[in-house]
Amino acid sequence: MNTEPLPPGQQRARVLSGMRPTGALHLGHYHGALKNWVRLQAEYDCFYFVADWHALTTHYEDREIIERNVYDMVIDWLAAGIDPEKSTIFIQSRLPEHAELFTLLAMGTPLAWLERVPSYKDQIEKLKDRDLSTYGFLGYPLLQAADILIYKAGFVPVGEDQAPHVEITREVARRFNHLYGREANFEELALAVVKKMSKSDGKAFEASRKAYQQTGSEASLAQARALIVASGALSQADRERLDAYLRGTGKTILPEPLALHTEVTKLPGLDGEKMSKSYGNTIAMREDPAEVERKVRRMPTDPARVHRNDPGNPEVCPVWQFHKVYSNADTQTWVVKGCTTAGIGCLECKQPVIDAIKKEQEPWRERAEPYLTNPKHVHWIVEVGTERARTVARETMRDVREAIGLRY
Ligand code: TRP
Ligand code: SF4
Repeated sequence: MNTEPLPPGQQRARVLSGMRPTGALHLGHYHGALKNWVRLQAEYDCFYFVADWHALTTHYEDREIIERNVYDMVIDWLAAGIDPEKSTIFIQSRLPEHAELFTLLAMGTPLAWLERVPSYKDQIEKLKDRDLSTYGFLGYPLLQAADILIYKAGFVPVGEDQAPHVEITREVARRFNHLYGREANFEELALAVVKKMSKSDGKAFEASRKAYQQTGSEASLAQARALIVASGALSQADRERLDAYLRGTGKTILPEPLALHTEVTKLPGLDGEKMSKSYGNTIAMREDPAEVERKVRRMPTDPARVHRNDPGNPEVCPVWQFHKVYSNADTQTWVVKGCTTAGIGCLECKQPVIDAIKKEQEPWRERAEPYLTNPKHVHWIVEVGTERARTVARETMRDVREAIGLRY
């Protein structure tokens, strides 16, 4: 259903995203998310935060979410090119406003919405070694919704797996606006506006509105909107009220965000599986160059290439996946030809990858350097970001409390 408010004049150019503090970030994080975060800074007002409470939803007994992990991750962000002058960097747990919004949203959120989030049953199945039948784990997409809505973010860059969380955020916002965005006599006021239209237009409007609300038909929405636009008797406020009535919402207090699916590069782990610390197949962003060399040299290759003279098939080789990310067309041609004709050996094939990773790491190491020698600087960046975020979060909470009637 189209629930964008009319007119769509409001600029919602804020981007928000978060990451769990799970220790040193690896190349998979960089190519899968961070690189994109860096790019987005040029176009949007970016808010990036350390999702430490989120880490607790699954790792509540580990107490591994220590300060060090948090600041290490921020250093990796800065190393990657997140610019604290452009982006707002902060820590979730420093802003209790997130928890307040989470609590208030929880009151009206149907349990079924959370139970049907795909990752819920999935993760419980997959992470069998943990007891995830907790209230916090079930509620975690709602906490994420609060993270997003509290900054009225327009766009949320997320991977496929997180898309349902943005979807539920949209539903939660819609419901909130529906429940609290209308005055007590909203319908009455809206009907009074309909009466200002000509009799036939009013009738046509009501018919289209009903059709839209029952079927979600975009054509009916467009018809009804055309009638609003065409009616000369209506003030701007009348039109807005009517549009909200039409869409079945009230005033927009919490705007609905959009998932931002920008193209990201998929870099698998050293063994071809998803790169993940728990699989032990990672290269850290700030991995020691000698270690990079050692790890890549030990990567498995096409299992059919037992001897140097056996031709191979790049499609079944994880090294080829790395070439796809790191090598130019010439090198890629050299790999395919050399591999399939047994013209090159696997160690030879790996060398350009090793060189490319080392080269990629250079600016990261350079940028991280001053922060490592002066951790206070990192703390300060987070301090400033947290206060910036707090200003926005407080303002939203003021609107939210007022809308719910909590302003005594
Ligand atoms: N749930 C995300 C993850 O596990 C992290 C996250 C928390 C997030 N809140 C967010 C991402 C808000 C985007 C927007 O990776
Ligand atoms: Fe993999 Fe390269 Fe060896 Fe072919 S030559 S199997 S692509 S490492």
